Amino acid sequence: MTDLLSNNKEPIGQNDILTITIDGLEFGYRTFPILKDLTVSFDKSELVSIIGPNGVGKSTLIHCINKILSPNDGAVFIDGRDVKSINVKQLAKVMGYVPYTTTNTFPITVIDAVMMGRHPHSKFGSLDEDLAISYEMLERLGCEDLSMRHLNELSAGQLQKVILAKGLAQQPKVLLLDEPTANLDIKHQIGVTKLLKAITKERHMTVIMICHDLNIAAKYSDRILMMSEGKIYASGTPEEVLTKENIRKVYDIDCEVIMDQGRPHILLRDDEPQSSDSCSSASGTL
Ligand SMILES: Nc1ncnc2c1ncn2[C@@H]1O[C@H](COP(=O)(O)OP(=O)(O)OP(=O)(O)O)[C@@H](O)[C@H]1O
Ligand SMILES: [Mg+2]
Repeated sequence: MTDLLSNNKEPIGQNDILTITIDGLEFGYRTFPILKDLTVSFDKSELVSIIGPNGVGKSTLIHCINKILSPNDGAVFIDGRDVKSINVKQLAKVMGYVPYTTTNTFPITVIDAVMMGRHPHSKFGSLDEDLAISYEMLERLGCEDLSMRHLNELSAGQLQKVILAKGLAQQPKVLLLDEPTANLDIKHQIGVTKLLKAITKERHMTVIMICHDLNIAAKYSDRILMMSEGKIYASGTPEEVLTKENIRKVYDIDCEVIMDQGRPHILLRDDEPQSSDSCSSASGTL
């Protein structure tokens, strides 16, 4: 596969859909292996959720896709070109990345922060268009009233939506999101995930998001990748991946999976008695 795909002269981002092919990816921090012979590809306009337990390598995988980390073996190909041969500016035109949000931010205004997402596309005279796109994304996330506030004065959920608006304003063909709804209340988790799904269809783009909420992933994803021990344990539709057997094997918990409106819905099962002070009576170790 490597020989077929490694033409470094091929331009990227010429077609509607940007293809990502990950072939036998191996990655370890220092010598400790994290990703092990991981193979997967993305070639559709779809919302893909990456799920899996803490520490399994989800963020590491995303960092290998966007060139923050360089694999020890195997490769990531973007439109058939090894990502190693693509320069950062070229990559930023077609691929966006929204990291896990921390509250440690600079005191710049919200609109300036979102405008930074336009940087890969900016050219002489494009300021009005960049501003319009940035405001549109803030509006779609219900954050337009925050535009003159400073990033370091926002709540965690407000900040998360603003950072997402910056990623969307970049208008990439593939958007990689590390837990984009982690700080949001349930209404905004649903709203943001629905917006991401709508945008995949509107702009023919691929959204790949890491998500810990299995029911949100089940309800809105076109495809789910379930990771375990540095590999893709299961890949397919929510119904194919979110079975009680897979959940037990990968997360070591018991659950029932029912179908609701054509999608799986996970009900947690815990045989330990739940008293009103269950915190004090629980076994208390992870
Ligand atoms: N910079 C680093 N140096 C050394 N080890 C790291 C580094 N970053 C992550 N790790 C380790 O690599 C493993 C995978 O981390 P990663 O952040 O990819 O997990 P994750 O699946 O995203 O987990 P979570 O759901 O908690 O975010 C973990 O064991 C983590 O401790
Ligand atoms: Mg992570």
